[in-house]
Amino acid sequence: MQVAVEVARPEAAEADVVAVPVVDPPSPLAGQAAELDRRLDGQLSRLVDEGEIRGRLDHVAVVHVNADGLPARRVALAGVGPREAIDADTLRTAAGAVARATRDFGRTVAWMLDDDLALPLPEQTRAVVEGTMLGGYDPGLWKTDGSDRRPSRRLVLWSDGDFDLARPAERARRVADWTNRARDLSNMPPNELTPERLAARASEIGEQFHTLTVEALGPDEMRELGMGSLGAVAQGSHNPPRLIVMRYEAPSPARDNLVLGLVGKAVTFDTGGISLKPALYMEDMKGDMSGGGAVVEAMGALADVECPINAIAVVGATENMPGGGAYRPGDILTAMNGKTIEVINTDAEGRLVLADALWYARQQGATHLLDLATLTGAMELALGDLYSGLFANDDEWGEQIVAAGEASGDHVWRFPLHPRYRRYIDSHFADMKNSSILRQGSPVLAAEFLREFTGEGPWAHLDIAGPAFFRYSRGDYLTQRGGTGFGVRLIVELADRLSGR
Ligand code: BES
Ligand code: MN
Ligand code: ZN
Repeated sequence: MQVAVEVARPEAAEADVVAVPVVDPPSPLAGQAAELDRRLDGQLSRLVDEGEIRGRLDHVAVVHVNADGLPARRVALAGVGPREAIDADTLRTAAGAVARATRDFGRTVAWMLDDDLALPLPEQTRAVVEGTMLGGYDPGLWKTDGSDRRPSRRLVLWSDGDFDLARPAERARRVADWTNRARDLSNMPPNELTPERLAARASEIGEQFHTLTVEALGPDEMRELGMGSLGAVAQGSHNPPRLIVMRYEAPSPARDNLVLGLVGKAVTFDTGGISLKPALYMEDMKGDMSGGGAVVEAMGALADVECPINAIAVVGATENMPGGGAYRPGDILTAMNGKTIEVINTDAEGRLVLADALWYARQQGATHLLDLATLTGAMELALGDLYSGLFANDDEWGEQIVAAGEASGDHVWRFPLHPRYRRYIDSHFADMKNSSILRQGSPVLAAEFLREFTGEGPWAHLDIAGPAFFRYSRGDYLTQRGGTGFGVRLIVELADRLSGR
């Protein structure tokens, strides 16, 4: 869905639908809903009495109203749940529910922001824009039924407060749009989204902004650089790998000596390789590039909102395939930093991809590293579809990422690193092995593995295996199966906070 966002006073804009939040219980109506009810001579409170208007989160009642004073024929009463539980996520959920309930007739939706809710108006603005755009996303781009899956809509935010809401509204619109582009990448089938195709998307973004430069290294360049770890994962595939490098030079950087280094795992299809995965749900492994996809689109977002922080992105894009040329359990690889790795399981490929990408990002001048990867199934088992797991070698850096996650809606929960986990990946033959036969602590030991390749300085790792790609709806504003764009909003928020903006 393409959305144009405007801010207006209640009397100013014509709309197909006016949306207003309704707290549970709805009787008596409060805030803007009560205000609207007065303007409609009690039409709404009568519907509350009849049980048609509820207030339960995610419930939307669309009613037709007779109104002289109201520039719309319909009102969407959007349940936001109990007052004490209202936060940005609940408002996103309510806005997403309105977007879906009004899809067929709501070309223009006017949302009444509400002083009566405990959330500041700029935050409400952001939540309603995100909920509308992310909640209205349709992943069925490959259906041939002729219906328009990217309709353009107008979202008008009504407020009689004096805040400047146009800026947060436009910013949220842009960031949500980049987030939906990251979802498109995750949802693209693996026969379309090859490593080359992802690199082409990065170049396409680079062409939109003079502040962005994009290059993509191929297998020969990777070999010359000594990237034996990433190279091994890629060698079993007929589709050649790409190391996508994007550099963002901020127009006037707020922090001279800081370069945000974003690293992404982009395994465009993970079969497990010779350590083949079972068939059930293997199709979802097209989403194994979601970390890299989020990093690519987030770089576009940083350039688009002219974030005053310099950033470099390094995305390792490859397939993980079995075949005559594939790497094997038992192989010993030499990574770009010279360390050797015994392969135990070819399905633990993500950490091998990241090893060379992290080291390269540091070499290219990243001062603060953050990697995003759908790295371990156990992370999804532990945290489900809401939180991603965070591992950090620096407390301050870790805390900044948790805070940016909370503020952005991309939630993050910190897990431990500890040197005594290192023995899990001790190898008899090489410096380390890529997986343990112990079925314990797999997200932690994956993180301990990555730590070997992060060089000097703060680094954090987000294992996004749970929230990046849904097998089932989450039931909030992210209702769709497939990619969620997890990380795009967090990265922009983090970069903004680093700049002090
Ligand atoms: N891409 C998978 C992890 C994954 C699983 C992401 C399910 C999202 C949903 C990763 O490459 C993988 O296969 N990890 C293995 C590692 C193991 C072999 C040590 C895992 O977690 O099972
Ligand atoms: Mn794997
Ligand atoms: Zn994988």
